[in-house]
Amino acid sequence: MDRQGRTEHLRRLPGFVDLHVHFREPGFSYKETIRTGARAAARGGYAAVCAMPNLNPPPDALDHLRMQLERIEAARGEGVEIIPVGAITKGQAGGGELSDMPALAPYVCGFSDDGRGIQDEALMRRAMQTAKALGKPIISHCEDQSLLRGGYVHEGSYARAHGHRGICSESEWGQLKRDLALVEETGCAYHMCHVSTKESVALLRGAKRKNLPVTCETAPHYLLLTEDDLQEDGRFKMNPPLRAEGDRAALLAGVLDGTIDCIATDHAPHAREEKSRGLAGSAFGIVGLETAFPLLYTYLVLPGKLSMERLLELMSYRPRKLLECWLGRSLATREYLWDLAGHNTIDPETFASLGRATPFAGWEVCAVPA
Ligand code: DOR
Repeated sequence: MDRQGRTEHLRRLPGFVDLHVHFREPGFSYKETIRTGARAAARGGYAAVCAMPNLNPPPDALDHLRMQLERIEAARGEGVEIIPVGAITKGQAGGGELSDMPALAPYVCGFSDDGRGIQDEALMRRAMQTAKALGKPIISHCEDQSLLRGGYVHEGSYARAHGHRGICSESEWGQLKRDLALVEETGCAYHMCHVSTKESVALLRGAKRKNLPVTCETAPHYLLLTEDDLQEDGRFKMNPPLRAEGDRAALLAGVLDGTIDCIATDHAPHAREEKSRGLAGSAFGIVGLETAFPLLYTYLVLPGKLSMERLLELMSYRPRKLLECWLGRSLATREYLWDLAGHNTIDPETFASLGRATPFAGWEVCAVPA
């Protein structure tokens, strides 16, 4: 209720579904535990999240996956459904051997080597054939390592001006292009992670026109920031990197015309020290679960760039539908009450997540959990 006793700014919203988070157990609980990750998700208004497999051990076989499932079970009380993504390759090492995909399939929503692209085309073909037979999608991190050349920010004006090594856009879209041909060949369902370049948006638009079974996500930082916002600080470093204005504009156009299906966070917490070594030396990854909706509501919906309906489609209805289709079962519903006239300054020290690195620290947002 506001001072006049009005309550219309209070809205019950359907819990969001994030197809892409990194909860660091087993293996890296100093960065995030499944419990702290689940708490961060609940604070951000999420009903369900998909947990990526770059863990130690990675979920590449049933005994390894069980370690993750036990921790997920122990965090059930947080009220957020956590669904693992299985590894594509053994050890998530990208070598020639696939994970035990048939054994993992009943427990995972799909298969990914997120954090790394699958470099070998023949291996990706085999992964797609196997996933297709199991009725699961390949959830793809597109990155051609031969084009990376030690880069860590976008290969663009900021990198040139400040003497940083850049990551070219082709490292993303080149591998996407290869994969789309494999999707056409195999018929495997394919979901592309964290789309960041305008070329990828165009390729995905073309694939959808051909009715290929392709979906994709981008993340709030690619819609709200560009390389022009970079600072010499590890909290601006993630993979893929913040791109150029033309990329940001193409991503927003893709969000508006339906080329982009979902907004995920790629919530990727690291320890403070790992993010304190500037752009060159810090780990890749920023946190996002506790800031995604307030940021997108404040900086896209309120200025009229995106409708509230479309935002809910991108964060809630569409990812829920995809996930339910991948799992072959329905997910529990959960609603959250938001105060859409609330005000908050993003302060990482108040996060439930153990990760504190966000480029949005200090930003003013409307929309606070009521
Ligand atoms: O920035 C990133 N962080 N990108 C990735 O692909 C992996 C992730 C992580 O696990 O920290």
